[in-house]
Amino acid sequence: MTLLSWSPRRLHSLTDAQIEELVGVLIDCVEGGASVSFMHPLTRDHAVAFWRRVAREVAAGERALLVAEDARGLCGTVQLTLNQPANQPHRADVSKMLVHRRARRQGLAAALMRAAESTARECGKTLLVLDAVTGGDAARLYERLGWVRVGDIPGYALLPRGGLCSTTVYYRNLSDCP
Ligand SMILES: CC(C)(COP(=O)(O)OP(=O)(O)OC[C@H]1O[C@@H](n2cnc3c(N)ncnc32)[C@H](O)[C@@H]1OP(=O)(O)O)[C@@H](O)C(=O)NCCC(=O)NCCS
Repeated sequence: MTLLSWSPRRLHSLTDAQIEELVGVLIDCVEGGASVSFMHPLTRDHAVAFWRRVAREVAAGERALLVAEDARGLCGTVQLTLNQPANQPHRADVSKMLVHRRARRQGLAAALMRAAESTARECGKTLLVLDAVTGGDAARLYERLGWVRVGDIPGYALLPRGGLCSTTVYYRNLSDCP
C-alpha cells in the first residue's frame, strides 16, 4: 500500500467489532516493545477496558479518535484529548499513535498525524503537545513532520518488558503551519 492510499477517518462512536480490532493493534504494539503506557504482557481484558474508556470519551466529545484500515481491518490509530483545562481551550494532547506491525513503514503514521492536525483545527485547537520515547521511531516521525522538540525527561517511563526510558516532549503550533 502506498502513502496516497491511506484514508484515515474520525470515529464518533465505536462498535464492538472496532474495539476488537483496536485491541489487536494495541496488543501488537506492546508485544513489539512500544512504550505506550502498558506493560507486557498486555491482556485482552486490560486492552478492552482501555478502548471502552476511550469509546466513552469519544462519545462524550472529550476525545477525537482517528483510525485507518487495510484489507484486514483497523491497523492504525491516533487520538486527540480535546477536553482541557478552562485556561487552555486552544490546546489538545496527541496520544496513542499506534500502527500495527503489519502496516508499518508505508506512511500510515504520517497520514494519521495529518488527519489529526486537520481534526484539531476543525475543533478550534491551535496548539498540540505530545511526547515520545527519546530517539525512537515515533520521535523520528514527529521531527520529520516538523514538530518542535522541547526537551528530554530522563527515566520517564518503563519499557513494556522493563527498563527505564527517556521521553522527549514536542509541540506543534498549528497557527504557524500552512
Ligand atoms: C511510530 C509508528 C507510529 C510509526 O508508524 P509508521 O506507519 O510505520 O510510520 P511511517 O510509515 O509514517 O514512517 C515510518 C518510516 O517509514 C518510512 N516510510 C514511509 N513511507 C514509506 C514507503 N512508502 N516506503 C518505504 N518507507 C516508507 C518513513 O520515512 C519512516 O522512516 P524512518 O523510520 O527511517 O524515519 C509505529 O512504528 C508504531 O506504531 N510504533 C509503536 C507504537 C508507538 O511507539 N507509538 C508512538 C507513541 S508516541
